[in-house]
Amino acid sequence: MQAGKDAQGADGNQTAPGGPARPSGALAETAGGIDWEYAPAPESRDVVTLAPEYGLFINGEFAPAAGGALFATVNPATEEPLAQVAEAGAEDVDRAVAAARAAYERVWGPMAPAERAKYLYRIARVLQERSREFAVLESLDNGKPIKETRDVDVPLAAAHFFYHAGWADKLEYAGFGPSPRPVGVAGQIIPWNFPLLMAAWKLAPALAAGNTCVLKPAETTPLTALLLAQVCQEAGLPPGVVNVLTGAGETGAALVAHPGVDKVAFTGSTEVGKQIQRTVAGTGKRLTLELGGKAANVVFDDAPVEAAVEGIVNGIFFNQGHVCCAGSRLLVQESVADAVVDRLRERLGTLRLGDPLDKNTDIGAINSRPQLDKISELAASGEAEGAERWSPPCQLPGRGYWFPPTVFTGVAQSHRIAREEIFGPVLSVLTFRTPQEAVTKANNTPYGLSAGVWTDKGSRILWLAQRLRAGVIWANTYNRFDPASPFGGYRESGFGREGGRHGLAAYLDA
Ligand code: NAI
Ligand code: MG
Repeated sequence: MQAGKDAQGADGNQTAPGGPARPSGALAETAGGIDWEYAPAPESRDVVTLAPEYGLFINGEFAPAAGGALFATVNPATEEPLAQVAEAGAEDVDRAVAAARAAYERVWGPMAPAERAKYLYRIARVLQERSREFAVLESLDNGKPIKETRDVDVPLAAAHFFYHAGWADKLEYAGFGPSPRPVGVAGQIIPWNFPLLMAAWKLAPALAAGNTCVLKPAETTPLTALLLAQVCQEAGLPPGVVNVLTGAGETGAALVAHPGVDKVAFTGSTEVGKQIQRTVAGTGKRLTLELGGKAANVVFDDAPVEAAVEGIVNGIFFNQGHVCCAGSRLLVQESVADAVVDRLRERLGTLRLGDPLDKNTDIGAINSRPQLDKISELAASGEAEGAERWSPPCQLPGRGYWFPPTVFTGVAQSHRIAREEIFGPVLSVLTFRTPQEAVTKANNTPYGLSAGVWTDKGSRILWLAQRLRAGVIWANTYNRFDPASPFGGYRESGFGREGGRHGLAAYLDA
């Protein structure tokens, strides 16, 4: 593991389990000869103008919360406070839902679908024009590496608006009957792991189908949703069509319970998803839940090892493992387990952890202190229960929230690290001998969001895909997303689909 440049230039001295920190900033001799250190390559922060304080976005305008409450959002890589953000209370939820209702009835619902499409196209284009600003702001507020915000989060967010703009005037031909109607006002609650992208997943299909929205971003990552609200203004979106309420769980709960909301869409923890389901039960509100996961990434002995190792790395270390569909359980065929794990360890030694704004950084910061505590606690339980813990030698920055890439071998299915969602850069390795055993172990989880299969044989992919109980199954790839492809799970991973034709169904009364 190569120590990236610390965001603060602080001299972090924590050492990951598994070996001494490697000298940083110096040339190190390796078996292959001289190994040059990377020079720092920071993306400029100057493209982002942070206001000291942000209001709620209601009826097309930014305004403070009625009660005046504020909370801070911090940069998790440095613990530096970035801004104060309004915390919406019940009165603000009321105002936002009323604004959304009025916009739905008077403007957005009656508007010709082709006209609605133009606004979505405009939002998509402005997102592209301001992509660098969005990428830097997302990295600052979330802690994820700039190469991911730049190459994944922001382009995919724009792609979702483009894709759904195309649907707006074709809904009659989408197979939902001759005249599908919007549902009304959507209350949408999103998590902190893909703040802008989840906002796009929620808003784009709802708007294309003619609904209006009240969106509540997560409390640790409100800033790109607020910038997206500015983009809605810039695109001339009629007031009230999109409203953004910042706040924490209480704000979310008030939105879910509000009688003026017709449809609730939630992405987040299974625990909160269950609470929401209880609140909504019996009210007639529509509901979709996209919750946690504990996906199996299954590697067969005939898989190309290099490709599989890249897929394993991408599956669990992309976005610090803060991914609901992360391949957090590696199921590797016993005959190749040692070879695959050896190669994986070598590969992890080349990843760079550090400043999220550095273009060379592979692993950024953990999003919050509570999340870091949760990951640390679960990793400790892995050791206590008898699994073997390994991390590459790695220097963690002295400030901020950091966790080294971690691999557990000798994991049993009963271990907590094989059962519970860790939502961090921690991989649990299990083995299997036969395809049937792989299926049985992969399905031995209360979740059912995603899975991966690595094999040379197409017939085996199809055989497995029919038996794996997961909403999304990737074959010889992992963590691939496309707005045309429906995404979602079942069992404790939730219900409903987002993206594609299936995703539109949640926002239509057919
Ligand atoms: P969370 O489920 O509490 O937060 C997600 C969103 O729900 C946030 O916007 C939050 O403010 C809101 N929220 C919280 N309580 C609410 C309530 N009672 N009613 C309505 N909205 C509410 O997730 P948290 O605490 O940030 O993370 C805890 C664990 O959940 C993670 O360690 C991870 O395992 C899992 N998680 C899964 C996600 C996924 O994409 N499937 C995303 C985020 C977390
Ligand atoms: Mg933050």
